[in-house]
Amino acid sequence: MERLVINGGNPLFGDVNINGAKNAAVAILPATILASKGVCHIDNVPNIEDINCLETILKYLGCKVEAGNNCISIDSSNIVTTNATIPEVRKMRASYYLQGALLSRFKKARVELPGGCPIGDRPIDQHIKGFEALGATVTIEHGAVSIEAEKLVGTTIYFDVVSVGATINIMLAATLAEGVTVLENVAKEPHVVDVANFLNTMGAKIKGAGTDVIKITGVEELCGCNYSVIPDQIEAGTFMVATAACGGEVNVTNVIPKHLESISAKLIEMGVEIVEHDDSVTVKSDKNLKGVNIKTLPYPGFPTDVQQPMSTLLTLAKGRSIVNESIYENRFKHVDELKRMGANVKIEGKIAIIDGVERLSGAHVKATDLRAGAALVIAGLAAKGTTEVEGVEHIDRGYLDIEKKFKALGADIKRVND
Ligand code: EPZ
Repeated sequence: MERLVINGGNPLFGDVNINGAKNAAVAILPATILASKGVCHIDNVPNIEDINCLETILKYLGCKVEAGNNCISIDSSNIVTTNATIPEVRKMRASYYLQGALLSRFKKARVELPGGCPIGDRPIDQHIKGFEALGATVTIEHGAVSIEAEKLVGTTIYFDVVSVGATINIMLAATLAEGVTVLENVAKEPHVVDVANFLNTMGAKIKGAGTDVIKITGVEELCGCNYSVIPDQIEAGTFMVATAACGGEVNVTNVIPKHLESISAKLIEMGVEIVEHDDSVTVKSDKNLKGVNIKTLPYPGFPTDVQQPMSTLLTLAKGRSIVNESIYENRFKHVDELKRMGANVKIEGKIAIIDGVERLSGAHVKATDLRAGAALVIAGLAAKGTTEVEGVEHIDRGYLDIEKKFKALGADIKRVND
């Protein structure tokens, strides 16, 4: 079993290059199913576990997949089945995008229900609402979603909840539908815009991604194309928060600073120095930080995926901080582990009340989900003494070589395999 062993206390100095956005790439790969001819060549794809999982699934469906160094070529002209019912589908949340892509092109799909981080109920009712509005019949049985449609006809769909997954999934389903589909109350995350841009590069007609209303005009066919995935806003935020917690000066490179605005604003409020450049941000911290209040919100609000790393930082800030996790009902599992390291945190439902302490102390802790793992790594890097983080497989789903990147910045961290 692998674990990360960290001797904390080192400040971080140097450059860290951010990979392609996980939450864009895990949608763009299934979206290549929509191309009935040509090959999709995609660059800046993060070589993480979720991507490896999707490659296995796409090959099972009949796609020709050639993976290179942070790039992948996919030829979906010869899909042999619309049944995505292999175990890999249950390992990740983003496998639900196979539903929209297969339904769109083949008017039928049978996809195992998704897995993913245990951070709340995570229903897919808005996805189903969208598919049914377009004219599909959806049934859930034997642990899988079966979707069929004679044809898909554009309509107006209002999402009851702002949902990244539902917004993207119904965008996929509507690209080849008859007529115009208008999606209202949609998610505006950078990765939603990236998927829309990818689909338009394939020949789709999508307008308004990044605003409250997305309009999709159905087309006859989509083709292979060349595309490059945007930088990962969440990985960038993770390294920015880690630098604030450990002290030092780090250039976080290959980013889009605008995507990081809410994270930068909160770190500046705490007393961290942030300098924005064209495609990088420089983070400087003397660890003399004051507590702030955080409420996670859909983009452009503070991203829920950076809440857990940020909670770690707030355990070391002066005074009291209140964290309101408004998106998920169970995204504080890392807090019990932080308390083993000396953090002073009280959880009341979706609210965490954090009173800063002078120092965390190293301990044996366990990651229960992807971003909780990142939060515990940051805690170990900042703590006094040795921390062992179990559950590295969760971290590897979303961060490529996390220990190598931190080691290159001066951290004393290594991956140990028992
Ligand atoms: C995506 O999950 C991301 N995952 C999550 O990142 C991220 O936390 C989340 O968006 C919010 O930004 C991927 O992109 C693969 P949602 P998703 O649908 O699509 C409720 C990470 O760490 N909801 O925007 O599942 C839902 O329960 C992961 O990289 C419904 O009620 O999130 C949640 O409370 C973790 N019905 C809220 O909406 C639905 O049909 C937002 O969920 C769908 C969602």
